[in-house]
Amino acid sequence: MRLSRYFLPVLKETPAEAQIASHRLMLRAGMIKQASAGIYSWLPLGYRVLKRIEQIVNEEQIRAGHIPMLMPTLQSADLWRESGRYDDYGEEMLRVTDRHGRDMLYGPTNEELITDIFRSYVKSYKDLPLTLYHIQWKFRDEIRPRFGVMRGREFLMKDGYNFDLTKDDALHAYNRHLVAYLRTYERMGLQAIPMRADGGPIGGDYTHEFLVLADTGESEVFYDSQVTDLTFGDREIDYDDVAQCQGVLDEFTSRYARTDETHDAALFDQIPEERRRVARGIEVGQIFYFGTKYSDALGATVINDKQEQIPVHMGSHGIGVSRLLGAIIEASHDDKGIIWPEGVTPFHCGIVNLRQGDAATDGACADLYAALTRAGLEPLYDDRDERAGAKFATMDLIGLPWRITVGPRGLKNGVVELTSRKTGDSVEVSAEDAVARIVEIYRDI
Ligand SMILES: Nc1ncnc2c1ncn2[C@@H]1O[C@H](COP(=O)(O)OP(=O)(O)OP(=O)(O)O)[C@@H](O)[C@H]1O
Ligand SMILES: [Mg+2]
Repeated sequence: MRLSRYFLPVLKETPAEAQIASHRLMLRAGMIKQASAGIYSWLPLGYRVLKRIEQIVNEEQIRAGHIPMLMPTLQSADLWRESGRYDDYGEEMLRVTDRHGRDMLYGPTNEELITDIFRSYVKSYKDLPLTLYHIQWKFRDEIRPRFGVMRGREFLMKDGYNFDLTKDDALHAYNRHLVAYLRTYERMGLQAIPMRADGGPIGGDYTHEFLVLADTGESEVFYDSQVTDLTFGDREIDYDDVAQCQGVLDEFTSRYARTDETHDAALFDQIPEERRRVARGIEVGQIFYFGTKYSDALGATVINDKQEQIPVHMGSHGIGVSRLLGAIIEASHDDKGIIWPEGVTPFHCGIVNLRQGDAATDGACADLYAALTRAGLEPLYDDRDERAGAKFATMDLIGLPWRITVGPRGLKNGVVELTSRKTGDSVEVSAEDAVARIVEIYRDI
């Protein structure tokens, strides 16, 4: 993409309405525009990151054996009356009436709809286990939408639902989700710690929330500092291996880590004092096992091998896809702007032309652009007729992890400059070397 032809409405002023860094930076970098309270348009740069996050979520779900589909945003109230949640959900549910006077709602979550699909088609234990998921917009009429996409009213969520014959099978599905989520967040450059949480309106005793530590987080969290030493890394996982998935769950959840809702001061005090941490965190996902709550209410049953009709065991598992943009920026920025982890960056690298209109410099930039594109990468080429300082400021603000700077002086010596956004370190290398290094960096991402 050439910046002269792109739509990147960068703001010079810091927007007064934004209270936290991620919100300010998303507005300043031209990623989102508020449409109304808690509802945003995703401008091209923000949309690219949103799609990358979605892609990582999809890849890791599919790797775990879960099946993608898509359910609608608008749902009939009838199913929610069947489960009893139409009245329970309260003011957060946006209710609408269609022209025939039928009650509808903009889905805040999808347990009812998916359970209805399940009961319509699945009759036998032989069709289990089954995990279906989708990535779809949700609406919750939050009383105080704030912090930009962090607490929106309309937001994008991945929500998955497992259907199993027994509690043990459903707990394996729970563990599988925990493993897949650990991988997902790490690929985005995030450490998200599974913490024991509260069931809330979805219900259930087994539930973990995934929290990214950040001072601006809305949840108070209590944990043993040893949990932050754990990383999943690139270990091989067989998602059908019950013991292996259980082992990962044990490893990541055996130390004390809880949100304020489940915090137990007496237990916490048993941890050696120097390891006790009280901090704040951003909830980027949650997994639940809730047994037969919805299958009982909605009659989602299968015939088992003894010809008995039994309700299936279920769980649901959510990732805040749009909230993740805010969480990643909170975890990775400096006073100049965003610093995208390579896994989610909107463009793989920037190219800055220091002397637009100079034939040799323009030609070298065009060659670089072509070479990177041929290698399957997506560069953003700043080909505007602007001062170098303004070009650098834009690149720093939008946070591409790598920048190649091309100017007549360097070209005379056969070099361009390759700069890391994170460290600020630059090296002078030939254009071919710059391309080779960028290709290498993104090889496994
Ligand atoms: N209003 C929102 N805006 C953006 N993302 C949200 C919002 N509400 C929930 N999410 C994201 O969707 C994920 C799954 O939804 P879940 O039902 O667990 O949310 P929740 O526990 O009600 O969230 P919260 O406690 O932050 O209100 C959450 O972990 C969070 O990342
Ligand atoms: Mg939650």
